[in-house]
Amino acid sequence: MVPDDLMSTLLVFRTEDGRPLNDFEISNSLMNLLLAGAETTTSLLTNVVWRLLEDPGRWAELVADRSLIDRAIEESLRFDAPVLGMFRTSLHEVELAGVPIPAKSKIHANYGAANRDPAVFECPDEFRLDRPQEQLRKHIAFGRGAHVCPGAQLSRLEANIALTALLDAFPGLRLENSGTRIDPFNFWGRKTLPVSW
Ligand code: HEM
Repeated sequence: MVPDDLMSTLLVFRTEDGRPLNDFEISNSLMNLLLAGAETTTSLLTNVVWRLLEDPGRWAELVADRSLIDRAIEESLRFDAPVLGMFRTSLHEVELAGVPIPAKSKIHANYGAANRDPAVFECPDEFRLDRPQEQLRKHIAFGRGAHVCPGAQLSRLEANIALTALLDAFPGLRLENSGTRIDPFNFWGRKTLPVSW
């Protein structure tokens, strides 16, 4: 019988050489999923609330027009990437934007910087709810390629549900100050975000 839940799948899974996963591999996979899924989406939510309240007109716009929620989430992912970057190792020598990168170099691929690339995004340092549709999803907050985030749609949905609930409950929400950022250098979200209503 093929299991339909992740825990059981990890238990019955066999590697290419036919062995089951050991305890470390199983707990590590679950831990990765927990961290990758929880911390990042929490940051997305604090970041989007922060930017919407920074300009009180934006919060009011969303209170009045819920069709802007997905747009705000997408612009937040671009403007404040919750994962600022990831390390990669170059397999062979390559040249990027005129810079030679030797084989086996550690590279920090910085999604946060790419998401503010003026060649791709008009006025990249502005948080805009009216960004043209074709620009909105060009950000790489979820990475790109073979390892692109499998939780992207889930986190968009979670953020939409949470933001809808906040807009319903606190239409007059106000920002007191920008609070503090979370500690890890590679992640970007609010540890504190003082608000009032
Ligand atoms: C706003 C929320 C999230 C952000 C910004 C985010 C971002 C990322 C990024 C940048 C990567 C690396 C992609 C790459 O290496 O090119 C990644 C990978 C991953 N994410 Fe997310 N993520 C989020 C939510 C989630 C959720 C909700 C889950 C699962 C419930 C999840 C599970 C994973 C896993 C398992 C990987 C590794 C994929 C692989 O290596 O093949 N993420 N994520």
